[in-house]
Amino acid sequence: MAKIGTRMRGMQQSSIRAMTARCQELDAINLAQGLCQVPPPSLLVEGARDFGKADHSYSPAEGLGVFRDAVADRLKRHSGLSVDPSTEVVTTIGATGGLLATLTALLDAGDGVLVFEPFYSYHLSALKVLNLRPEPVRLAAPTFEITEEGLRAAITDRTRAMIVCTPNNPSGRRFTEAELMIVSAVAEEHDLLVISDEVYADIYFGSDPHLAPATVGGLGERTLTISSLSKSFSIPGWRLGYVCGPAPLMSTVRLAADALVGCAATPLQEFGARALRMGDDYYRDLRATYDGKRRALAAGFTAAGLSPNEPEGAYYLLVDCSAMGVASGVEAAEVLLERTRIGTVPGEAFYLNPPERPYVRVCFSLSNDVIAEVVTRLANGVL
Ligand SMILES: Cc1ncc(COP(=O)(O)O)c(C=O)c1O
Repeated sequence: MAKIGTRMRGMQQSSIRAMTARCQELDAINLAQGLCQVPPPSLLVEGARDFGKADHSYSPAEGLGVFRDAVADRLKRHSGLSVDPSTEVVTTIGATGGLLATLTALLDAGDGVLVFEPFYSYHLSALKVLNLRPEPVRLAAPTFEITEEGLRAAITDRTRAMIVCTPNNPSGRRFTEAELMIVSAVAEEHDLLVISDEVYADIYFGSDPHLAPATVGGLGERTLTISSLSKSFSIPGWRLGYVCGPAPLMSTVRLAADALVGCAATPLQEFGARALRMGDDYYRDLRATYDGKRRALAAGFTAAGLSPNEPEGAYYLLVDCSAMGVASGVEAAEVLLERTRIGTVPGEAFYLNPPERPYVRVCFSLSNDVIAEVVTRLANGVL
């Protein structure tokens, strides 16, 4: 057997994918992975008839102009963010590809990157794969607020960047202007890059529109905004995303995206551009759909005696399982799987240090029938 490199040493299959595999084994309902079971908009499904006529060659590394124009229009319309589609947008293989290209382009091995804990576990994997140093900034449960003291305390002499995710997976928080002003002040003082994951920008509850970090304080000049079509259009399998930011940074991100993967799927960029131009009604309906699912699933957990949070955005509940008398989220997820055949992610998957409470995360991007079945199973008893 040939000797292999050490880069992946210590990395394991994510506990989200591990739970998905166990759910398949046990024929359990999978609330662990954000599988996105809401159907895609009919415009995309019907558009597939034109697939044969689409461009099937490589696109430029930064993506087709038609896609980048649609991204720029959309960011202006939804977030008030102005980007030049010719120099400030790079099309990527999902937000995941966007994050990898950004980190590869702008940071060196050993650089410190602040991550607000709890964090989306793939942020941590990306840092590990690239030999970057995760520096956790604990956001205390149950409010998960950014504080100036907490943020300052986490900074080291190696810190070069921070990752912000709003609306947040897993906490459901949408960071406020006051919190983002703290981010802006600290980032400026320490000359940090801000990498903003906004894949859930269209999924929020309440009337306030999405607040893009790049529009707050002085963040515009140091923020790379990353998003994708996965969640907004229920097409995570298309792997279509984008990164936007100041032109001098984006020229390097473009080089990295090209070196890593060449380009994103060209024909899908054409259809993706159509989706990005859908009207406000589409987004209103999407939010109403998710709001209904959120309420139905939360009611089921509450009726069962557990304590779900009330997410402001994204499509996950964090459920405090203290009432089950368990010592950890890992134990809570095991007991839930055993008693109800429902797969959840232990809160520990989103932390480097142990969480304050035995949390599990559940996804509510499911059909209403599946949610009804979950509620029935919970009603049969989890305590
Ligand atoms: C916060 C966050 N960022 C990124 C992603 C992945 O996005 P994409 O499918 O565009 O790679 C997810 C998927 O669950 C997510 O929750």
